[in-house]
This record gives sequence, structure tokens and C-alpha cells, in this order.
Amino acid sequence: MCGIVGYIGTRDAYPILMDGLHRLEYRGYDSAGCALINEDSKGKPKGLAIYKAKGKVSDLEAIADKQNVSGTLGIAHTRWATHGVPSEVNAHPHVSQSGNLTLVHNGIIENYVALRTQLEAKGFVFKSQTDTEVLVQLIEYTMNVSNEDLATSVRKALTKVIGAYAICVIDRRHPEQLVAARKSSPMVVGVVPDNSEFFIASDASPIALYTKQMVYLNDEEMVVCERGKDLIVRKLTGEQADMEVKEVDLDLSMLDKGGFPHFMLKEIFDQPAVLRDCMCGRVINNPYSEDGHLSVVLSAVTEHRRELLRARRIIIVSCGTSWHAGLIGKQLIEHFCRIPVEVAYASEFRYSEPVIEHDDVVLAISQSGETADTLAAIELARSQGALVFGVVNAVGSSIARNTDTGVYIHVGPEIGVASTKAFTGQVTVLTMIALALGMAKGTVFQQEYEETLEELVRIPDKMEKILKQSDKIERMASRFTFARNFLYLGRGYNYPVALEGALKLKEISYIHAEGYPAAEMKHGPIALVDSEMPVVFIATHHQLYSKIISNMQEVISRKGHIIAVVTEGDDHVSKMVDDVVEVPSTLACLAPLLSVIPLQMISYYVAVAKGLDVDQPRNLAKSVTVE
Ligand code: G6P
Repeated sequence: MCGIVGYIGTRDAYPILMDGLHRLEYRGYDSAGCALINEDSKGKPKGLAIYKAKGKVSDLEAIADKQNVSGTLGIAHTRWATHGVPSEVNAHPHVSQSGNLTLVHNGIIENYVALRTQLEAKGFVFKSQTDTEVLVQLIEYTMNVSNEDLATSVRKALTKVIGAYAICVIDRRHPEQLVAARKSSPMVVGVVPDNSEFFIASDASPIALYTKQMVYLNDEEMVVCERGKDLIVRKLTGEQADMEVKEVDLDLSMLDKGGFPHFMLKEIFDQPAVLRDCMCGRVINNPYSEDGHLSVVLSAVTEHRRELLRARRIIIVSCGTSWHAGLIGKQLIEHFCRIPVEVAYASEFRYSEPVIEHDDVVLAISQSGETADTLAAIELARSQGALVFGVVNAVGSSIARNTDTGVYIHVGPEIGVASTKAFTGQVTVLTMIALALGMAKGTVFQQEYEETLEELVRIPDKMEKILKQSDKIERMASRFTFARNFLYLGRGYNYPVALEGALKLKEISYIHAEGYPAAEMKHGPIALVDSEMPVVFIATHHQLYSKIISNMQEVISRKGHIIAVVTEGDDHVSKMVDDVVEVPSTLACLAPLLSVIPLQMISYYVAVAKGLDVDQPRNLAKSVTVE
């Protein structure tokens, strides 16, 4: 979704801004733009240069590179259209009526129609269809009537605004400062010891190359960055706020493709290694066991043992792929801990007047840690006294900072819009949480606990065996570019995997796909089955295997084309169906970690065979910061 980069300092801002925008591309966007206060040969501000393009950052560079751009102050943006089509005119930055103020914005202004009408009545003329343009005009109007400086005008203008925003504003008459503010949309400021330069961005990835010292703005805070001066963070009410400089160590090597043609393929192949990282230091040799038995240690579970043990209910809130991981988490926690678990879409939960008791635990799952609905759901849960526990990938993200405790999945930044390694990381962490809590509660037998952990540490090796079949899966997948619909069926732990397989295919190949519990097929989806309809069965040797075989027969009788994911050596299914992918045998509760891999690869190779943009599929965003 939208991304912001800003720079004020002593260096040329343009390359820093463009490099930053490239690093934000993974979030998904449809236009890009930048503004720089450029200078004459003596370094004096000459004026404002603005470049915008519909399409990719490379389209913007194709325009701006030719212009000999210079300047040590600038702001830049990637826009994911909400109000108004993707176009040059709607792309950010937006400029105020006088041409003095320029602004970029992430988020949505909910009362923009009312504000626009009021400003139009005062003579302001709008050029774009965006909600953002209202902000820059409102700040200018406030500045005109109050005769205050930029920072005060921004602060006063924002009191009139309802909605979510992270903004960066510059004034061409004052090239010595850059003002930024946020509410319900993340913003981070990179600082250096002598304050000679400041880097601003909507997440740490565009600025980690320049500094590890970051200040995350809290909600309803703003900052004024001036070369050589101390950074001052203020609340939007005006008083000075506490400022904490955090050391953020991002592994930038994770942000390149490492020789793979797409981030998504790299991330699929990264899974064995990152899951080993995810378990490292958490699944350990039990120090009290003489025969080297494994044990799981999660500090969040140890530190909040009392609240977790008294939980009468766990409510999982999440969106998209993370919601699918939540469905698996429900089965794991109910099995190992015997605590009832509800899984809610965060977007529904927050508006459903949920009954939240103080002894409920709300578990938020999020890759990006920035999903607006999930963030709002946990804020609601906290306000009603529940313990909020996060399962998050992005270190230091808004959800990570707004939970009472949690476990990072530690699988490294995920760049491909379609989530892969984050999903298996989430399922791995949920398995560890369920086992740790089950052990603390006494609801899991020692033998099952140890067997599950022993198998969990074998999962990365087993994933590697599946990945070795990529050539075969690619050949098979490339035969399905014709398909208009796919059906994915599974049961038990493999039912959420069916949902995830269907979502992956939809997201990147634009083929309509649905996931169903296999037995539900006869209550509707079977009407769609004919010789043109690929049906993917996840039919590993687990719960209800024989019943899934019956469902397959029903599809075969209707001439549907079956692709089956089966346990290694399953000759029975191999003889029945058209295409088979084998996965190593494992425990039922760990089956999703293996059976999802062929589904990720099928989606990837179908999309590649269709010539589509796998990493940045149309209309989708990696980090959904609007509700
Ligand atoms: C977007 C992404 C999905 C992700 C979902 C939830 O739709 O494209 O990959 O599953 O948001 O995001 P989160 O970051 O909260 O896991």
C-alpha cells in the first residue's frame, strides 16, 4: 500500500528518495511521485520540482532522471489508489493552491468531502480526486488565517481531520525544515548523531541503509526535522512528547532476490532456512532431561503464564493469509491446550460489538504488523481489558508495539505480495505457543509434546524434499493457464491449507479459486465440476483420509481434473487421479507446513506461465494500512 520517503540533510536527496521508493515497492502501488526543493549552483533554494508518474517507480525515474534533479530536501511517495483512479494528477505529492506547500500522505481522510466543500467555498480549487489534496489545502488555509509557522499550522489543521494519516510536508519558502505527523498510520524517523540529516519513511526498510537509529512516532505525534538541530517530537495537542531512539537492525540482504527471478520464489525456497531461524533458541534441548529431549521456551508465554493459564477463551484476530494461519492456530490450541478459540476477521471483529472479558486473550496475527483492521481490533481488545498477544513478523511494527506481549516469527522481511514464508512462520510459532501453553496447563502428555517437537524440527528438511520437485510442479502448473476456476479441498488441519491455496492462486494468477472443506463440496461447489475444472485435493494420510478418497470419486465421476497432494508412497491415489505431488509423511497437526508448499508453487508457476507480475499483482497491497 502507499509508501513515504523523506530526506533532509546535506546529500543529494533524489537518489535516496528513489532508492527508498524501490524498497517500498513490495507494499503494492499504482503511481509514484517526488518533490524536491532544488538549489542553484550556490546552494540557494531555487524552487520546487515535482515529478509524478502513473505506474512503477521506474516510470517516475524515466521522467525525473532526464531533468538533472538536485536538492537536499525532498519527499516521495508510492500511491495505492483509494480515492480517485491511478493517474499522474492523483499521484502524490500534492501542492497547495499558492504552490508553497507540498505534501505526501498515507491513509484515508474520512471527512474529506466536508472539508473540501468548506475549502472550495473559501476559493480553493482542487485539481485531483484525492482525499489527500484536502490536507495540503487545509494546512495552507490554516497558515493563511493564523499566520503561524508550518509546524503549528500542520498541527492546527490536523485537529479538523478525521481519519488515518502519515504525512510529510515541505514549504518551498523554508527549505530548512521538513514536518511529519501521524495518526493510525506508521511513520519512522532515521536519525544520525550530529543531526546533520534526517530520513523519514513509512517503514524502516527505505532508511536502514543509512542509519540504524530510528524514532518510531507514536499515534497523534508530529516531528520537525531541521539540519543540525535536535529532533523534537510533539503530540498533536502541542506539548512535547517523550522520544525513544531505537536501534533497528534490518538484514538488507533479505531485501534482494538472491538470484531468484522473483521474490515470491525466493521466499518459497527460503522457508526451510527461515523456519530453522524461527525455532532457533526456542526449541531447545531440555536442560533437565538426560536423554536430550526437546523443549519449547517462549519468554512471552513464561512471562504471562498467569494470564494465559486463566484464559477462558482465546480470540484470534487477523486478515488474509494470517487469518488462515489463525484457523490452524485454533485447531492447535484447542488440541494441545483445551482452551476454546474463536477466529475472527479483524475487520468484522472491530465492528461487531464483540463481548470481550478481562480474562480473554486476544491473539493478533500479522506479517506486516501494520494492517489497519488488525491494529484497530487489538486496540479495542486492550481497551476492554483483554491481554493482547501478537504473532508478528515485522520487528518494531505498529502491532508489535501495541500488544502486551508476543512472539516474533523472525522469518525476515517478506517482499512478494503473496505471503508464503510468513504463513509457515506463523504456523510454526502457533505450534510452539500451543505446545508451551499446553505443557504449562498440563493438557498435553509429555510423549506427544516431545514427539511433536521432534517432528517440528524435522519439518525444514522435509520441506527441502518438496522443493526439489519444483521442475515437475512447474511442468504440471503450466498446463493450467487455460483454467477459469479452481477448487481446493481439504479437511481438518488441511482445510485452512485449501483456503490458503485458493487465495494464493487468485492473488497472483487472477484465476478464480475457492477453498472448501472437502465434505462441503456436495453442498454447492460440485455443480461447477466438469472437464474444464481443476480440483486440488489435499489428501495426506491424516484425519478423514478415506472420506476424502470418496470425495475424489465424486469429482472423477463428473470428469473433473484432479491434482492431489498426497503422502509419499500413496499409490492408491496416484492410480486414481491425473496429477499427484508427494509430500513427506508427518504428524496431522504439522501437515499444513508441508502441504501448503506445493500449493504455493502451483500458484507461482501458473502465474509465471501466464506472464503475470508475480511479486506485485494488480490491485493488491502487501501492507494494508487502510480499513
Ligand atoms: C494483505 C496481504 C496479504 C496478508 C494480509 C494481512 O492482503 O497481501 O498477504 O495476508 O494483507 O496482512 P498482515 O500483514 O496483517 O498479515
